[in-house]
Amino acid sequence: MAILEVEAVSKHFQRGAERIVALDAVSFRIDQPSVTAIAGPSGSGKSTLLGMLARFDQPDSGYIRVDGERLDQIADAALDQYRNRKLGFVFQQFNLIGALTALENVELALAPQGLPAREARERASAMLEQVGMAQRLGHAPAELSGGQQQRVAIARALVNRPSLVIADEPTGNLDSKTAQQLLELIAKLNQQTKTTFIIATHDQRVMDMAQRVIHLEDGRQVAGPVAAAAAAVAGHGRTA
Ligand SMILES: Nc1ncnc2c1ncn2[C@@H]1O[C@H](COP(=O)(O)OP(=O)(O)OP(=O)(O)O)[C@@H](O)[C@H]1O
Ligand SMILES: [Mg+2]
Repeated sequence: MAILEVEAVSKHFQRGAERIVALDAVSFRIDQPSVTAIAGPSGSGKSTLLGMLARFDQPDSGYIRVDGERLDQIADAALDQYRNRKLGFVFQQFNLIGALTALENVELALAPQGLPAREARERASAMLEQVGMAQRLGHAPAELSGGQQQRVAIARALVNRPSLVIADEPTGNLDSKTAQQLLELIAKLNQQTKTTFIIATHDQRVMDMAQRVIHLEDGRQVAGPVAAAAAAVAGHGRTA
C-alpha cells in the first residue's frame, strides 16, 4: 500500500472574474518512507497542495489517499484524529499560539494523547532541544526570532512522532547552520523512525537531500530545471 497517492488533483480559486488555477491534474505517489521536496516558483501551488494533504482544503477533482484511506472520505469527526495522530504539519507562517510559551506550544500538540503532564513536558522539551531551542523554552513567540519560531513550529509538528510530516518552507527563515542541523534531523528521523517528509521549498539544500523532487509551475507538474535543460540539449542535437 502506498504511503501517499495524489491522483489527478486540480484546484482553482475564483477571485471576482479571475479564475486562478492553483493545481492542474497533479499526480504522484510515495511508496517508501522518504523525503520528497515540492519545488517551484512563488504561486506555483505548493502550499495549496500541502494544505490538501492535511485536508485543510479539498480538491475540485482528483483524490488523495494516505495509507490507503481517501481523505475526502474521512468524516469531519475523525479529522482531528487523522491530523493529530498521523500527521505533523509545519505551516509557512508558523501559526504558533501567541499567548503560550515555546514549551507550551509544543506540549499542546501532545494534549490529545492524554499523557501525564510531567511526561508531556519532558517530551516537549526534549523535542525542542533537538531543534536547538533548549535555551528558549519559556519565551513567547513574540520574544523569538523568525528562525526560532520556525523551529518551535517544527518541534510541534514532530513531537507526536507522526509517520507523515508535511512542512511548508521549513528552512525559509533559518541561517545555513541551523538549516543544516534541521536537514540532518530530518534525515535521521527518516532513517531511524521511517518518517516520510513532504517539504515545499525553494531551498536547493532541501532538494539535494530529498530522494525525490516534484517541480510545479503554475499548478502543473513539470520536469525539473535540470531535466528540462537536458531535454532541450538532446532535442537540439537531433536532426529533424
Ligand atoms: N485562498 C485563495 N484565494 C485565491 N487565490 C489563492 C488562494 N490561495 C492561493 N491562491 C492562489 O493560488 C496560487 C497558488 O498559491 P500557493 O500559495 O499554493 O503558492 P506557493 O507555491 O505556495 O507560493 P509561495 O512559494 O509564495 O509560498 C497563487 O496564484 C495564489 O495567488
Ligand atoms: Mg506557499
